Amino acid sequence: MMRYFVILFAFLAVFPFAGAIPHAFFGVETVLDTPRTSRYIRPSLPSGNLPMHDIRLQTRSGAVEQVHLSALRIDRVSLVFARNISSLPDDEFPMQATIKYGTEPDNLEHKMIVNARVYTTMNEYNSYLWNPPMGAPALSREDIVPLMNTASWAEPWWYVYSNFSLADVPENRSVSASYNNPASIYQSPLLFNAKLTDLRPNTRYYYNIDDEFTGNFTTLPLAGDFTKPFTLGLWADVGQTNVSVLNAEYMLKNVSPDLMLLAGDLSYADTYGPLWDTWGRLMEPLMSKKLTLFCDGNHELNAGNEQYIPYFYRYPTGYKESHSPTAEYYSFETGPMHVITLSSFTRFEKGSAQYRWLLRDLARFNRSLTPWLVVQFHVPWYCSSYGTGSRLLMREAMEPILYKYGVDFILEGHVHVYERTFPVFNNVTNPCGPVHLVIGDAGNREGPSLPFIDPQPSWSAFREGSFGVGKMVIYNDTHAHFEWHRVACEDTNATVCVTPGDNSAQAHDISDSAWIVRNLTQCPNRLMPVTSL
Ligand SMILES: *[C@@H]1O[C@H](CO)[C@@H](O)[C@H](O)[C@H]1NC(C)=O
Ligand SMILES: *[C@@H]1O[C@H](CO)[C@@H](O)[C@H](O)[C@H]1NC(C)=O
Ligand SMILES: *[C@@H]1O[C@H](CO)[C@@H](O)[C@H](O)[C@H]1NC(C)=O
Ligand SMILES: *[C@@H]1O[C@H](CO)[C@@H](O)[C@H](O)[C@H]1NC(C)=O
Ligand SMILES: *[C@@H]1O[C@H](CO)[C@@H](O)[C@H](O)[C@H]1NC(C)=O
Ligand SMILES: *[C@@H]1O[C@H](CO)[C@@H](O)[C@H](O)[C@H]1NC(C)=O
Ligand SMILES: *[C@@H]1O[C@H](CO)[C@@H](O)[C@H](O)[C@H]1NC(C)=O
Ligand SMILES: *[C@@H]1O[C@H](CO)[C@@H](O)[C@H](O)[C@H]1NC(C)=O
Ligand SMILES: *[C@@H]1O[C@H](CO)[C@@H](O)[C@H](O)[C@H]1NC(C)=O
Ligand SMILES: *[C@@H]1O[C@H](CO)[C@@H](O)[C@H](O)[C@H]1NC(C)=O
Ligand SMILES: [Fe+2]
Repeated sequence: MMRYFVILFAFLAVFPFAGAIPHAFFGVETVLDTPRTSRYIRPSLPSGNLPMHDIRLQTRSGAVEQVHLSALRIDRVSLVFARNISSLPDDEFPMQATIKYGTEPDNLEHKMIVNARVYTTMNEYNSYLWNPPMGAPALSREDIVPLMNTASWAEPWWYVYSNFSLADVPENRSVSASYNNPASIYQSPLLFNAKLTDLRPNTRYYYNIDDEFTGNFTTLPLAGDFTKPFTLGLWADVGQTNVSVLNAEYMLKNVSPDLMLLAGDLSYADTYGPLWDTWGRLMEPLMSKKLTLFCDGNHELNAGNEQYIPYFYRYPTGYKESHSPTAEYYSFETGPMHVITLSSFTRFEKGSAQYRWLLRDLARFNRSLTPWLVVQFHVPWYCSSYGTGSRLLMREAMEPILYKYGVDFILEGHVHVYERTFPVFNNVTNPCGPVHLVIGDAGNREGPSLPFIDPQPSWSAFREGSFGVGKMVIYNDTHAHFEWHRVACEDTNATVCVTPGDNSAQAHDISDSAWIVRNLTQCPNRLMPVTSL
């Protein structure tokens, strides 16, 4: 806290009129004599989760909702949606949904029927939820007492918690309700996953769900077809605050990506089941229109022991399509690139299933067809902020292979800051190593992962404690341009930016940008073929 004020004070002292700072101050290219640590700092207070009564979070009471798309393969897209049947009459049970899709909006030539599935999880009354600084839903300790108290449901002999009182609710600690307590059991709405198949590349598809919801999206180019620049929208650690919404809107309107990569930590539901639904609703305007490659983060696996259940049901990945045994890791290729999604939260050492799958996938893909080799996973291997987690074991296990195959850039989240490295390998800059992009804060409620470690490591090209999203435009087989679009506002009204020293003109400033150039003369590891390891 102290440190934050010191830095902020220094910033204001040097730049009392931050709005007047020329754009170039933040527009740092890869030049060593410009500042490599931004003087901008986002508010130290976390952005709160939107309150449960926010209009955008409400259920459509039986109608199709939470529509989103996941890219499985160029010709295959999962269309996922939900129906909350609570408010339907008892004799209505829409177990099936009819999806029509096609290339002519008025004549949808394909029709398919999918069955619903549901899952159950335990709501954990987590201090993240009821401790005010961590945001909504605003369960107070008083709210938790009746949920924990067994009197309403237990057999009389079950006395243990029947006299649960306020004093028994530990402050700032999560509370596991009994599995016998109906009030603590979360039941998902009916969930539908329609795999739209045999899609043609580069084509706009229109879809209709039960004549209730219509949408459209554009499929991706075939691997090897990159006549047009390809735009990737990159983000991670999204959450459901005002900033998350701003980022989602910005992603749709301003980045307008061909494909999004979400490098883990989606809803921050953290075992309060309904927050997966509210996140699905918040993201629908974007995710029902744009394709995503999802990646798991710790908030999918174990923030409150979800063990991926909501994630696997709701956000399918193309693992079967890429010969992977699990939805945790998979690959995808389109246009100029082969994208590999790895998991920071499964075994990764030599001999593990993930390691072996990675070797096979790398050996299988054709670099002449898709010259850009892109990797995403959640926990960064290079990030010069404190509290970066156990990144080094995975780095030790897998970095040599990724280097050998000449990965071009790696997308990571988890740490709530932005940091771009120079090409790096084995802890030192190396022109033939990948560029790491840590983009771990698209708006979640947790607050920034500051301070940065000093001195700044030599591999660190630029770092800034800010919210935002990344945009990568791949122009051809050698040149891609990356931009970090910082979000300075904590308010849905983007003209009101509460960040000290910032204002609306800089609300979505491009505070860092860099060319990523594949130099095959210099780096033969970026050429095919690599024969054996
Ligand atoms: C479903 O709708 C009911 C009534 O409208 C509501 O109380 C409940 O929270 C909703 N469930 C989910 C998972 O959104
Ligand atoms: C319930 O708890 C209160 C305070 O902890 C205690 O004074 C009271 O005797 C308890 N009642 C029963 C029935 O156990
Ligand atoms: C609980 O968290 C709040 C907010 O961070 C803090 O003010 C309070 O002192 C904490 N209480 C305990 C018992 O740690
Ligand atoms: C296709 O989607 C766009 C938004 O992405 C929407 O504006 C347009 O109306 C849709 N077209 C049809 C025919 O539904
Ligand atoms: C790899 O792709 C190139 C370019 O499309 C093609 O000429 C070559 O035959 C492919 N190699 C294999 C092994 O499929
Ligand atoms: C990596 O290099 C930094 C200096 O840039 C050093 O502090 C750190 O200990 C090194 N880490 C490893 C794992 O070698
Ligand atoms: C690749 O794109 C970059 C950026 O637009 C351009 O400068 C370069 O000339 C292009 N290279 C080729 C071979 O077209
Ligand atoms: C979100 O923004 C609105 C104004 O647009 C503001 O009233 C509200 O307090 C903000 N909510 C949170 C949780 O920061
Ligand atoms: C946003 O804030 C500005 C400045 O306070 C105000 O004039 C405008 O009406 C607000 N817009 C909305 C949609 O709340
Ligand atoms: C590629 O690297 C070589 C050797 O370092 C250098 O001479 C050449 O200028 C580089 N080419 C480009 C396009 O950067
Ligand atoms: Fe994380």
